[in-house]
Amino acid sequence: MESMGELRRSHSCNELGIDHIDEEITLMGWILRRRDHGGVIFIDLRDRWGITQIVFNPELNSEEHAKAHALRSEWVLAVKGRVSPRPEGMVNENLKTGAIEVMVNELRILNVSKTPPFPLDEDVEVSDNLRLQYRYLDLRRPGMANNLIMRHKACQALRSYLNGENFLEIETPFLTRSTPEGARDYLVPSRVNAGKFYALPQSPQLFKQLLMVAGMDRYYQIVKCFRDEDLRADRQPEFTQVDMELSFVREEDIYRIAEGLMTSLFVATRDIELKTPFPRMTYDEAVARFGTDKPDTRFALELISLTDVVKDCGFKVFRTVVEKGGLVKSINAKGCATFSRKDLDDLTGYVGNFGAKGLAWVKVKEDGEWQSPIAKFFTEQERADMSATLDAQPGDLLFFVADAPAIVHQALSELRLELARRLAMVDKNTFDFLWVTDFPLLEYDHEQKRHTAVHHPFTLPVEEDMALLDSDPGKVRSRAYDLVLNGTEIGGGSLRIHQKDMQDKVFAALGIDAEEAADKFDFLLKALELGAPPHGGIAFGLDRLMMILTGRDSIRDVIAFPKTQKATCPLTDAPAGVARKQLTELHLRPDW
Ligand code: AMO
Ligand code: AMP
Repeated sequence: MESMGELRRSHSCNELGIDHIDEEITLMGWILRRRDHGGVIFIDLRDRWGITQIVFNPELNSEEHAKAHALRSEWVLAVKGRVSPRPEGMVNENLKTGAIEVMVNELRILNVSKTPPFPLDEDVEVSDNLRLQYRYLDLRRPGMANNLIMRHKACQALRSYLNGENFLEIETPFLTRSTPEGARDYLVPSRVNAGKFYALPQSPQLFKQLLMVAGMDRYYQIVKCFRDEDLRADRQPEFTQVDMELSFVREEDIYRIAEGLMTSLFVATRDIELKTPFPRMTYDEAVARFGTDKPDTRFALELISLTDVVKDCGFKVFRTVVEKGGLVKSINAKGCATFSRKDLDDLTGYVGNFGAKGLAWVKVKEDGEWQSPIAKFFTEQERADMSATLDAQPGDLLFFVADAPAIVHQALSELRLELARRLAMVDKNTFDFLWVTDFPLLEYDHEQKRHTAVHHPFTLPVEEDMALLDSDPGKVRSRAYDLVLNGTEIGGGSLRIHQKDMQDKVFAALGIDAEEAADKFDFLLKALELGAPPHGGIAFGLDRLMMILTGRDSIRDVIAFPKTQKATCPLTDAPAGVARKQLTELHLRPDW
């Protein structure tokens, strides 16, 4: 092995072109590939920026050529050489440096490498676990490196926009008290305060509100949040929010800032101009038309209600569901009457995963007649009414789910997504933003047998609904909004309660009595009595945004060192055991 010595890199591996012909240059990087062509050795040298072909020719430099025989993938090199045009016919149009190559006259081997556990070529499929275990190798792959580069650019653009709008970037603590955002807390035991625990923040929610009380007026932070919840492709136990809060504002002000922020983000990362203002839809409308509060609006396949049409029909399943207060809803998959029996069985199984007890279907034949296991249960008139409601045409495939509203909506919203995937209806280069507004303030939790906050307990209720807080709390709307992009919730926020009596009322509706409120949120309640201004804010999920911007399917691909589905890190083997002494110092007495 050799040292860099006095050698200094003159260019990156993505810089050289015909303008540099005959220049003496120095490159440093990793060996991507080595090819031996009748004595002449070609190496693709790679760094973060790109690839340059370097050449060892025995006739020009026999000593370095002899050394080059030993070189292997992922060894680390410094090379000095002269830039030459590639011979006729050898130009690689797909490579930025493809017009040239570097004739090496000095080689230094800065480090060797064992054979990597997987090839670093972009197109080789590698198991997720292996990728995470050797994440530093995975990140050498250009696709992954580019994701991190784009994330960096995104953060620059976000900061620059918010700085321009007079926001202050302020840090809030990680060792703090629990903030209720609906997940479990990660707890950190205190050594100096026996039996006491910090909670890692699920979000900086309360601190950013206190910063408004402090008169900071506009705050933001690109900040880690910690939530101990069941993980999915778009959820990590620690993730990053672009978090902000503003004083003396209403929804419109926050929408404008958020839309400006998204616009600068998309220009900086993808050079895409977004159309603003973004469309808006109430929560009720989103659920009625798409079955979910985060609809993917890039395609139709909307849910159509048949509850009224079938309430007295001959099909007992539908009739009894309606009698019990349930819903019957349908999706008309236009032109899909060609689906096979197996397709239909698969889709029935699929909606079963979401609690649907069945998936009734109708194929509309060329003559308009129904081909369907349930056709016989309906009169001609009933079939005609249903067809009219669904705008059924020959060649269409109609799906029906009858059940309690929550099941109908979830099953059909998932069916909608699955159909769109099967029919390749989603275009990864379309970006459909949607504000979902007028969320309910509270929802009933059947397990806990009480109402919980849909957003969080500090969200302002809609004034005119306040009278319902005692009589029909589920009907109270909130001043909360989500921003949805292509069916993913990328941000959420609300106007906040800034007066103590209102906060008391909402705590009461949540079943948080005065004692519990004082114990957990005394500091907030005190602040509300010391000149809290009207305020509101929003937080965006940076990882989810980056996943969509990079066209990836998992947020793991845009996080340098993410965790597995089981919240472990195969690279460091976290979480790990600790010495008993450490536990004793923390006043913990495990019984395992
Ligand atoms: P909320 O809980 O909606 O709001 O979070 C804001 C956004 O953060 C992203 N997000 C996640 N991303 C990855 N992994 C997770 N586990 C995860 N959980 C949430 C989502 C989400 O829209 N304090 C409020 C914001 C506010 O009211 O201002 C809050 O945290 O994209
Ligand atoms: P059955 O009479 O139970 O054999 O059901 C006839 C058809 O109705 C089958 O295709 C079932 O999948 C469907 N089906 C049964 N229950 C429901 C339901 N709750 N919602 C929608 N379709 C159903």
